[in-house]
Amino acid sequence: MKFDVSYVRRQFPALERTIDGRPVAYFDSPGGTQVPRLVIDAVADYLVNHNSNTHGYFAASVETDQMLADARDALADLLGASWDEVAFGANTTTLNFLLAHSLARDLSEGDEVIVTEIDHEANRGPWISLQDRGIVVREVPVDLATCTLDWAAFERLVNERTRIVAASWASNAVGTINDVGRVVELARSVGALTVIDAVHYALHGVIDVAALGCDFLLCSAYKFFAPHVGVLYARREAAEVVQPLRLRTQMHEAPFKFETGTLNHEGIAGAAAAVEFIADMGRHHLRRVTADPVLRARLEGLDGRRRRIVAGLVAAEAHERPLARRLINGLREIPGVTVYGPPKGHARTPTVAFTVGDLRPEEVCRSLGRQGLFLWDGHFYAIRLIERLGLLDRGGLVRAGLAPYTTADEVERLLEGVRRLAGDG
Ligand SMILES: Cc1ncc(COP(=O)(O)O)c(C=O)c1O
Repeated sequence: MKFDVSYVRRQFPALERTIDGRPVAYFDSPGGTQVPRLVIDAVADYLVNHNSNTHGYFAASVETDQMLADARDALADLLGASWDEVAFGANTTTLNFLLAHSLARDLSEGDEVIVTEIDHEANRGPWISLQDRGIVVREVPVDLATCTLDWAAFERLVNERTRIVAASWASNAVGTINDVGRVVELARSVGALTVIDAVHYALHGVIDVAALGCDFLLCSAYKFFAPHVGVLYARREAAEVVQPLRLRTQMHEAPFKFETGTLNHEGIAGAAAAVEFIADMGRHHLRRVTADPVLRARLEGLDGRRRRIVAGLVAAEAHERPLARRLINGLREIPGVTVYGPPKGHARTPTVAFTVGDLRPEEVCRSLGRQGLFLWDGHFYAIRLIERLGLLDRGGLVRAGLAPYTTADEVERLLEGVRRLAGDG
């Protein structure tokens, strides 16, 4: 499938930026993507024309209520959920702390929660903090050679006392996609709830919470073209039994019961527009997607905006996959470069982590940054994984994240930059 990357790039004003006359290549998307004009305009439109608090009897307030309802519909379409299962919050970390301490009200001393070593701290810390209440937290180890979960250990850890299993769909550090279907199955086998961190995955793959059957799922809109807003999916039946920490003035029904205080309305308007942007990418590529039998199969049974969203995501995936392969292979050919991540053939996102000889990752990123190549270094809050890989003291990893706006030329520029740093070019 031929992806129209020029069409996509034209939507992003930030891509026009230059550093010393050279265009900036943004490889920082796992930390947050750039934002298309549609989203910028939606934020501005909200602030200019509709800015208000909720539940009033004047136009701006009524419009704000409508905007929030429309945004829930949009995010529900992105996740395969219904509107009343979508709550907004400051970010994933804050929503997950609220969720953890709310669910903990129904836990007893000695009950167990499972987290994984590959997860971002946002899906570890909130659960680990329950140890103070006598909850036992167990950790699924990571297989360090392959940067994948140790499934045999996972199976051993799940037992009759397991109440919650918290795991990520994809690693924001090394790109490993975890088999979340298997996570849900394992949790269900003992009647435990599942909390899936889809923050990194959301930009790169189709989410269908109904098909997955998870109880809770978190994502952050700023990782898929929107402003800084967190999103919590809470399955209707699972949400019913949670008593979130909340004010007496707060609505008691889901999804509102998960939302504390006044929300980031302009950010949410932007999040809804980001979903429209993904759907527009799908509309633009629909004919090409349906011409490919494998991709067409992904759209089966879908209609309306959900169909366009899925088309947009699978088109982007088809664009990013060969670029990631080229980047990984090119890096592997450079003497002194070590690539960290799942083995060939394992499901992954186009997020590629590596080190360059003895250079500290921050030195690598500073040097690449001067050439207009924007990459993150460090532990990316996936600190347990980086610690287990023995890389914490040496500054973690360099991380190149591809996005739908990444071009093959940018990948070659990055490879050239790394080659020069490694003294091989
Ligand atoms: C996989 C993953 N989970 C959770 C988070 C935390 O998200 P937030 O910054 O919205 O709290 C991030 C942010 O980088 C992430 O990449």
